[in-house]
Amino acid sequence: MRTPICERLGCEVPIFAFTHCRDVVVEVTKAGGYGVLGALTYSPEQFEIELRWIDEHVGGRPYGVDIVIPNKYDKEAAKAPGPLKELIPEKQRAFVREMLDAAGIPPLPPGEDERIYQDYMARERNYTPEGATRFIEVTLRHDKVNLVVSALGAPPGDAVEEFHRRGILVGGMCGSPAHTRHQRQAGVDLLIAQGTEAGGHTGTISTLVLVPMVVEAAGGIPVLAAGGISRGSQIAAALALGAQGVWCGTVWLGTRESELTPMEKRVLFRARTEDAVIRRWMSGKTVRMIRSKASEAWEQPGAPAPLMAPLQSILFNQAKARIERAQRDEYCSFPAGQVAGTMSGETTVREIMYALQNEYLSAMERLVAFGK
Ligand SMILES: Cc1cc2nc3c(=O)[nH]c(=O)nc-3n(C[C@H](O)[C@H](O)[C@H](O)COP(=O)(O)O)c2cc1C
Repeated sequence: MRTPICERLGCEVPIFAFTHCRDVVVEVTKAGGYGVLGALTYSPEQFEIELRWIDEHVGGRPYGVDIVIPNKYDKEAAKAPGPLKELIPEKQRAFVREMLDAAGIPPLPPGEDERIYQDYMARERNYTPEGATRFIEVTLRHDKVNLVVSALGAPPGDAVEEFHRRGILVGGMCGSPAHTRHQRQAGVDLLIAQGTEAGGHTGTISTLVLVPMVVEAAGGIPVLAAGGISRGSQIAAALALGAQGVWCGTVWLGTRESELTPMEKRVLFRARTEDAVIRRWMSGKTVRMIRSKASEAWEQPGAPAPLMAPLQSILFNQAKARIERAQRDEYCSFPAGQVAGTMSGETTVREIMYALQNEYLSAMERLVAFGK
C-alpha cells in the first residue's frame, strides 16, 4: 500500500484521516496513517492548544491541518453593522422555533441562546481570509505539521509560498476537474478528489467517476481519493484508479476517540446509506448529513429557503443545542457520508486501521488470483 506520498509526508500507509478530533489525529498517525486536524470548529486560540496536545502525544510523527478558505461568503452580512443574528429574518427564525415547539422540545434556558451565538461568532471569522491568516500563524508554530490543506477553494499564492519556504506541503480539495485546474494554478502539492458520497460540503460527481478525472487533470500531482471509503477493498480500488492514497472522514466518527456526542453516535449507527443526504439545513450550503425531522422540514412545500452562510449556521447551532439538551434523536442531524450506512457500533481508530489494511491485502490477493 506504500506509495510515494508516504515518503514525502513521513507516514507508513497512505490512509489519511480528516477529523475535528485531536485524539483521532494522534491514533491514526501512531498507527502508521496520517491524521489531519480540521480547524473549522476551533478558535485560533483553541487550535493552538489542540496542536500543542497533538505535538505532545503523536510520538514525534508528522501530521497535517485543514484550514477553511471560503469561496462563497455572504460579504453583505459580514459588512453589516450590529449583531449578525439580527439579520436572520423572522420567517426562518419562527420556522425553526415553531418546529421545535411543536415537537415538545423545550427552549434553551435564558442566556443560553446568546452564549451559543457568541461561541459561534468567535469561530465565524474562521471562514474569512483574515481568519485563515490567524490559523496559518498558529500552524507555523508547530513544526510537526508538514501538510496544510485548503478546504474550500484554492489557497492564495503567498500562503503557498510561505508554506513551501518552510518545507510544508499544501493540499487542495477538488470536487470537479475545474477545481483541479484552480488548485494546480495555486501551486498545491497534493489534490484530494472528494466524491459526492462524502460527508460534509460536497459536490455532485461520484468518487469512482471523479478520481480518474482528477488524476488526469493533475499533471503528475499526487491525488488522494475521498468520499465513500471505509473498507480496504475501496483503498485497492482507489489506488487502481490512479490515487496514491485515501482520505477518509466519516469512518472515524464511529470510533471511541471521536468527538460525536452519545446521541449523535446512536443516530449514526442507526442510519442507513440513504439517510446520508445533501441538505442546506446546517450552513446554507450543500452538506451531506444524516437526515432528521429537522433537516426534512426544510424540504417540505411552503418551508422558507435556507439562509446564506453564516446566518443559517446560527439558526442551526441554536436548534442543535435545543435538540441535544432534549435528547431527541429524531431531530439530530450532523455531517456524515454514505458509509454511515455500513457502521453499526463503536470501534476504535486502531481497529479501523488494522481492518483497512487487512481488507486491502485480501482485495489485492483476489485481484492477483484473477490474473493467474
Ligand atoms: C463531520 C465531517 C466534517 C467535515 N468537515 C470538513 C472540513 O471542515 N473541511 C474539509 O476540508 N472537509 C471536511 N469534511 C470532508 C472530509 O475532509 C472528507 O473529504 C470526507 O469526509 C471524505 O468522505 P467520507 O466522509 O465518505 O469519508 C468533513 C467530513 C465530515 C464527515
